[in-house]
This record gives sequence, C-alpha cells and structure tokens, in this order.
Amino acid sequence: MIRVCIAGATGRMGSTVLREACLREGFEVVGAVASPNNPNIGKTLSDLGLCDSDVELVGPDRLSEAVENADVYISFTTPEAEKNNLPVVADLGRKIVMGTTGFSEEDLSTLKLRIAEKVPAVFAPNFAIGVNVLFKVLSSLKALPETYDFSIIEMHHKGKKDAPSGTAAKLGAIISGFKGYEKTVYGRSGVSLRKSDELEILSVRAGGIPGIHEVVAAGKYEVIRIEHTSFSRSVFAEGALYAAEWVHGQERPGVYSMEDVLGL
Ligand SMILES: NC(=O)c1ccc[n+]([C@@H]2O[C@H](COP(=O)([O-])OP(=O)(O)OC[C@H]3O[C@@H](n4cnc5c(N)ncnc54)[C@H](OP(=O)(O)O)[C@@H]3O)[C@@H](O)[C@H]2O)c1
Repeated sequence: MIRVCIAGATGRMGSTVLREACLREGFEVVGAVASPNNPNIGKTLSDLGLCDSDVELVGPDRLSEAVENADVYISFTTPEAEKNNLPVVADLGRKIVMGTTGFSEEDLSTLKLRIAEKVPAVFAPNFAIGVNVLFKVLSSLKALPETYDFSIIEMHHKGKKDAPSGTAAKLGAIISGFKGYEKTVYGRSGVSLRKSDELEILSVRAGGIPGIHEVVAAGKYEVIRIEHTSFSRSVFAEGALYAAEWVHGQERPGVYSMEDVLGL
C-alpha cells in the first residue's frame, strides 16, 4: 500500500489525482492540503465529495501533520506554495512527486539542489506518458537540415496561470539543445520577421482545453507537425500515480524525471 499526501487537493489537477488514488487499489490517501484561505479547511474528503475518507483537508500550516503518515507527497499547487512546502516535506524524509510548474529557472534549481541530497523525487512538467515519449522522439528531428525552423504551439484552458507551459519549455529546451538556438520568441505582432537563430513558442489560453502541444519543423518545401493532445486531466493523474509507485521503490535520494520512471 502506498500512502499519499496530495497538495492542491481542491484544485483541478490535485482533485483529479485524489479521486484516482482513492479508487485505485494499492493507494491510500492519508493527507490533503489546500491554500491557507480555502473555505473548506477542516472538512473531510467525504464531506467534500472527493473520496470516501475521513481525512481532513488542511492548510499549509498543518503540512507536517498531513505528510507525517505518507510515503509520497504529490504536488499540484503553485510555485510560491512549493518554495515553502517542498523543503518541509524533504526535511521530513518523505518522497516527492512534483507536478507543479511555473518556477523561475533559478527557483527550480535551488529547490532541486535542496531536495536532491535528502529524498528521491520525480519532477515532471507533464506526467502524460505520451508526452514523455514525444520528448524522446523529438531528438530524431536533429537529422533535419540546419535551415529548418522549429516552432511550438501549446493550448490550455483559460484558468492556466503560467505561460508558456512547462511542457512547451521542456520541448523548447530539447530543440534548442540540438539547434543551438539561444533566443526564444513568445508570439509575434507588427513587423516581426523570423530570424534563423530563434525558437518560436506560441501559447493559446481558451475554454477548458486540458492540454495540446504541437511541434512544427518546417523547411522550404515540407513541414513535419507532431501533436500530442490530452483528452482529460486523468492522463496526468495516471502518470503521477505511476511516478508515485516508482519513487516509492526508489531508495537513492535524487531528482529524477519521467524518463527515469519510464526507462526511456
Ligand atoms: N505536471 C503535470 O503533468 C501537470 C499537469 C497539469 C497541471 N500541472 C500544473 O499543476 C499546477 C496546478 O494546476 P491546477 O490546474 O490544478 O491549478 P488550480 O486548479 O489553480 O489548483 C491549485 C491548487 O493549489 C492549492 N494551493 C495554493 N496554495 C497552496 C499552498 N500554500 N499549499 C497547498 N496548496 C496550495 C490551491 O488551493 P485552493 O483551492 O485553496 O486555492 C489549489 O488546490 C500548475 O502549476 C499546473 O501548471 C502540471
């Protein structure tokens, strides 16, 4: 049995993971954390209709109590929240599955350094298994001639706070790695001719789209377009629980990726 504490339990992603974990054999939800101002703090997960469980929803002031009996802490919150929460969890020696995105590069590396020597943790900007296979497939595009231009288009629901998505940023880092791009252009307006040394990332925020990422690699006479579409948030929840199972069996502290989890 893997005992999990879910932070962001009342959010779009956290509540999806929580429901999946409650239904799945081999998992037990022992902690649920929301923001300090959540009006439902103190209510049980049954009261909230999230899960048939007496576990109480708590604020981050009671984080230590919420993770105390957990094997794995699963986070889908905000970068501000995790700058405080993650060090507490790591100091308590609890394993981590980190889904929260939107950190500055500096904050992310500081957090990773802090955690890496204490506990095993899986950090992934996207837990969908297909997206992680896409990360791998992408490197075969390096065979394309130098003159080919690469762009990324990502679409998400209008409630998403950060842009570009963490997944688009990772796709961009992989492409920039083999193309040698040093600059990224985020959208265009007015006179804005494309230069050969830049990557282009376009973000769309509309309706309830769970997540679409498209990589465009265009030459003068042909274009390759590779698209990944998530039909439902359950795809991320499934991947996060898969990562939780993997990290539960991992004894060596360190920050791992879905590549490690999937053996890619
Ligand atoms: N890695 C992936 O596969 C993946 C997939 C989808 C989304 N994401 C990322 O996951 C994160 C959450 O996305 P979402 O759409 O679920 O956002 P959301 O609906 O806004 O949920 C955010 C949650 O964080 C909670 N929260 C805020 N401050 C907190 C704190 N100090 N301690 C504990 N919880 C706190 C909020 O509580 P209240 O309800 O009380 O405000 C809410 O439950 C984002 O960074 C998003 O980009 C990752």
